[in-house]
Amino acid sequence: MSIDLRSRVLAAFHETYGDAPSLLVRAPGRVNLIGEHTDYNDGFVLPLAIERAVWIALRPTGDARVRLRSLDFGDTREAGLEGLEALAGRVEDMSWFEYVRGSLWTLGRSGGRLDGWEGVVAGDVPVGAGLSSSAALEIATLRAATALSGEPWNAGVMAKLGQEAENRWVGMNCGIMDQMISAGGRAGHALLIDCRTLETSSVTLPAGTAVVVMDTATRRGLVDSEYNERRSSCEEAARLLGVKALRDVSVADFEEGAGDLPPTIRRRARHVVTENGRTLEAAGTCEPDRLGELMDESHRSLRDDFEVSTTRLDLMVEIARQTDGCFGARMTGAGFGGCAVALVEAGSSDGFTATVSRRYAERTGLEPMLFATTAADGATIEPSGSPS
Ligand code: GLA
Repeated sequence: MSIDLRSRVLAAFHETYGDAPSLLVRAPGRVNLIGEHTDYNDGFVLPLAIERAVWIALRPTGDARVRLRSLDFGDTREAGLEGLEALAGRVEDMSWFEYVRGSLWTLGRSGGRLDGWEGVVAGDVPVGAGLSSSAALEIATLRAATALSGEPWNAGVMAKLGQEAENRWVGMNCGIMDQMISAGGRAGHALLIDCRTLETSSVTLPAGTAVVVMDTATRRGLVDSEYNERRSSCEEAARLLGVKALRDVSVADFEEGAGDLPPTIRRRARHVVTENGRTLEAAGTCEPDRLGELMDESHRSLRDDFEVSTTRLDLMVEIARQTDGCFGARMTGAGFGGCAVALVEAGSSDGFTATVSRRYAERTGLEPMLFATTAADGATIEPSGSPS
């Protein structure tokens, strides 16, 4: 898939600018195995970078502008690199290009060097599916700009810049998970991320398992307002419990001290507190059955306590669980539509994807998209030779 994308981007660059690019970068989307809605509570997450990614081919121009042609959106956008500060938080036309501009803005204000460039961008991370296409675009932009200026790549620093672009330029109050895994993922591994310290450790999935992404073919609605509302409830719970963040509450503390919380806030907090426990356990287990159970519990908690699942996500998870070879399944990402994820027996992923796709289509009339993925590397600079 990505090899094709690489050739397409290189060929389109040649067609647009009449030459080969001087740089080619890619930044992946992600799927989160477990640890949902914990990142903005200073908690733990266990995502992996997927094989699908955003690619940018580019060359320096020597002027203070960035010009970028998107193959996915069929347009070319251009922006000056000066005066971005005055526009922060005021952009009205929220197109794909604002993730690029916002990232250049945060890089510039952090003291990074901004040189002009022109390029072509394309990706195969489905948009709005909960696989972090926007983080991939932010991190690809930052990878491109830092590669051009020769600055070293620090995944944690760059993830924070991407997150700030999303929070303050785009206006989505996301946590750090998506940018962190896109910037710092490691091939063949999931990453346990401590979202308070940004310490990471690589985790090998249990032997004989494979990860299948299951797109419900429904897109997220209301996600921004609902997401920000969940985030406020968690902050309120932490305040009422007298801690900095819900990360600081153990399951035992919660059971003892949460009795007085208003019922909805109590359920939201219970999800986060129990999910942190599940995530730490998941990172330490080599038992596929146990990891699967933890994923199942995570889904129930997101559905019943955090209330971010949908009937289609629940159905996809239910079908996955009833299909041979499945150890566990859950919704993944922010919720309200998009994707679920399953842990399956390595040898059965082809049969599993075919059966689940068929059963889901029969029940809904929708055409889902399922694919197995290995864990890819985070953002990379790729060889940029001419297209073959
Ligand atoms: C979105 C956000 C992440 C995280 C997840 C939920 O993907 O961008 O920061 O909060 O939702 O786990």
